[in-house]
Amino acid sequence: MGTKSLCLLLASVLVAYYVYTPVPETIEERWKLMLINAGFRSVAHVAEFAEWLGLVHYMEVLMMITSIEYTAPISDENVTVTDTKFNNVPVRLYVPRKQSSGLKRAVIYIHGGGWCVGGSAMEPYDLLSRWTANELNAVVISVEYRLAPLHHFPVQFEDVYAVVKFFLQTSILARYGVDPNRVCVSGDSAGGNLAAAVAQQLLDDLEVKAKLKIQALLYPALQTLDLDLPSYKENENKPILPKSLMVRFWSEYFTTDVSLKEAMASNRHVPAESSHLFRFVNWSNLLPEKFKKDHVYASPIYGSSRLGKKYPGFLDPRAAPLLADDTKLFGLPVTYILTCQHDVLRDDGIMYVSRLRKVGIEVIHDHIEDAIHGALMFITSPTDLALGHRVANKYIEWLNMNL
Ligand SMILES: *[C@@H]1O[C@H](CO)[C@@H](O)[C@H](O)[C@H]1NC(C)=O
Ligand SMILES: *[C@@H]1O[C@H](CO)[C@@H](O)[C@H](O)[C@H]1NC(C)=O
Repeated sequence: MGTKSLCLLLASVLVAYYVYTPVPETIEERWKLMLINAGFRSVAHVAEFAEWLGLVHYMEVLMMITSIEYTAPISDENVTVTDTKFNNVPVRLYVPRKQSSGLKRAVIYIHGGGWCVGGSAMEPYDLLSRWTANELNAVVISVEYRLAPLHHFPVQFEDVYAVVKFFLQTSILARYGVDPNRVCVSGDSAGGNLAAAVAQQLLDDLEVKAKLKIQALLYPALQTLDLDLPSYKENENKPILPKSLMVRFWSEYFTTDVSLKEAMASNRHVPAESSHLFRFVNWSNLLPEKFKKDHVYASPIYGSSRLGKKYPGFLDPRAAPLLADDTKLFGLPVTYILTCQHDVLRDDGIMYVSRLRKVGIEVIHDHIEDAIHGALMFITSPTDLALGHRVANKYIEWLNMNL
């Protein structure tokens, strides 16, 4: 064997080693997913390196993916698309062209991206909003809230809340021909977190007359307390959202101070004064046997009270909706929760299903056995997956039947 072929062989082995990630056998298009994931990991490595050199913030490099996927607000034969502002917060608005005699339905959509990246104008989100508007003949409002690290909690929440509150005014609903009884708030990942937080907050807001008919939470992040749930343990290194990145997203939502990130990474960030909150995320009570498997519940290890005092956000239900008391959950709308088996956030969603059902809220739980976190992002070429289309169709069909 010549030197060249030896080098080629070595290079192929290295590439294969880099691209290979343990993708479960049950997942279709495994190699395509591995390639996509290798792309994500490369960007993450560049981000780490650039940050280590002191050139840029980690999230600025990740934000490049959002910028590359930017699409202009282009109307098509079915939907008029415009970028505008509601209550000074940018939104992308999708209004169906089809004439209808009655009032329309509306979906307020909140994109994911760990409160740090992503945008309503990203190709997959833009497509999802068009599909929703078209299939449901509904008005879709996709919120462009401000992101970390430039803005921390509660800015993201407040931006989304401002949009929802603006839209739910009687005069605004009337302007768009929307039925006040058929409005949904919906979001994926960090967007599911914001949707759940907004739905809770609306219950206490006497200024808002219209009520949400539905909240749809797609693989949402719902709690900051226990980052060692069975789903975190099982999926620590699964594609798209490894535990390390989720920890980074969570801590970055509150601060760029690395001490919070480090404490979260070792699950020792909650001060003893907040020990009473652990009952809201006690997976040994809230997960069905199927998901507990042979995991053993360990009592929490408490961290210094300094972090909790400095960054009280991570103990706030507006950031972690699972931390709301049962009495705060009464009156929530019909809830659709989609969870993915191979996702660190799986148990967040499942525990919310248990908590809501316990207080009598109607919950529809779609658990997808062969899905990874972020499945909905993979609906546009060249990174589309059959899984992405399947999950998107499932969600939109459900919405069409129930909103
Ligand atoms: C418009 O709607 C029709 C019917 O649902 C669909 O077949 C067509 O692909 C849509 N056009 C676009 C650009 O999405
Ligand atoms: C969690 O639940 C288990 C089982 O019911 C119980 O033994 C444990 O004390 C609970 N821990 C907390 C912190 O609520």
